[in-house]
Amino acid sequence: MSRSYSQPGFPATRLRRLRKATALRDMFRETSLSKSDLIYPLFIVEGEIFKKEISSMPGQYQMSIDNILLECGELLSLGITSILLFGIPAEKDEVGSGAYSDDGIIQKAVRAIKSAHPAMLVITDVCMCEYTSHGHCGIVEGGYVDNDKTLELLVREAVSHAEAGADVIAPSDMMDGRVAAIRKGLDDAGFTDTPIMAYSAKYSSAFYGPFREAAESAPQFGDRKTYQMDPGNSDEAMREIALDIAEGADIVMVKPALSYLDVIRRTKDEFNMPVAAYNVSGEFAMVKAAAERGWLDGERVMMEVLTSIKRAGADVIITYFAKEAARII
Ligand code: PBG
Repeated sequence: MSRSYSQPGFPATRLRRLRKATALRDMFRETSLSKSDLIYPLFIVEGEIFKKEISSMPGQYQMSIDNILLECGELLSLGITSILLFGIPAEKDEVGSGAYSDDGIIQKAVRAIKSAHPAMLVITDVCMCEYTSHGHCGIVEGGYVDNDKTLELLVREAVSHAEAGADVIAPSDMMDGRVAAIRKGLDDAGFTDTPIMAYSAKYSSAFYGPFREAAESAPQFGDRKTYQMDPGNSDEAMREIALDIAEGADIVMVKPALSYLDVIRRTKDEFNMPVAAYNVSGEFAMVKAAAERGWLDGERVMMEVLTSIKRAGADVIITYFAKEAARII
C-alpha cells in the first residue's frame, strides 16, 4: 500500500475544517462499527428456567437452554446474528468427558438453537477447561498438560459440536498442532465446509478473571503459562498465527484485544487474513466498574473501545458489549 501525505502546510491546510460539522465527521470517519462485526458470548448451564447474573460481569448471565433460546430471539431482533457458546457441565472429571459427549451441554444447546433460530450463526468454543475437574485446558499428567493426548480429545469435541450443528469451530486451548488435528477430524467426518476460527495468539492474561467465574473454569492448581502466550511477545504471536494458517485456520484471533492492539495491527498487516479480536471479560468489567462509580461515561468508552479494536485491524469483535453496542449502532 502506498499512501501520500504530501500537502502544503498551515495556513492552507487546516485539518479542523473537516471536523467542523457532524455530517462532515460522519462522512470522513475512517472506521465504523456495524452489527455484523459483533459476536456475543453466551454461558450455558444445565437445568431449566435458570438465569444467574455473573457478579463481576453486570448484565451477563449463566442461562439454561430455554433462556438461551429467548436470548437468541432478542439478539436477532437487535441485529446480532452470531454467538460464541461456552458450556458449563453439571459434572466435571479428569478427562473432561462432558466436552465431547453427544448429550453434553453444548451439543444439546447447539441443536436447540439451530432448530429454533436457524438464522443464528453458532460458533462453539472448543476447550477442556470448563469440563475438567482440575480446570486445565487439557489432559494433565504429572502436573503438566500433555499436548498430544489433549489433541485427541479436542478433535472429538470439535467433531461432536459440528455433528450437533455448529457453524464455526473455535479452539481456545493453545495446544500445538490442534488446528491441523481438528481440521483433519472435521474433514474425515464430512465437515469440510465448517470453518475454524482459531484463538491463535491467546495470551496468558489476568484479564480473563471474570470469565473464569462465569465459566467456572479457574485452574485448580498452577496457571496457564505453559500453554498460553507470554504477554511480552509479539514475534511469537506471528509464529503462532503463521502456524495456524498453515494448519488450516480460516479466521485467526488475537486475545485479549485492548492490551494487544499492536498485535492485531501486525496480524492484519503481515497476513491479511480474516482477523477476530476478543474484547475479554476483564476489559468489559473494568469499563462497567468505572461507569458504575460514575468515573467515566460507560457508553462512550464502550464505543471508543470497540472502534479502536476495529481500527487496529480486527474484522470481527467478540464482545460482552454486543447488545448494548447494537442498540447504539
Ligand atoms: C477457555 C477460554 C477462556 C476465555 C475464552 N475461552 C479463559 C481462559 O483461557 O482461561 C476467556 C474469555 C474472557 O475472559 O472473556 N480456554
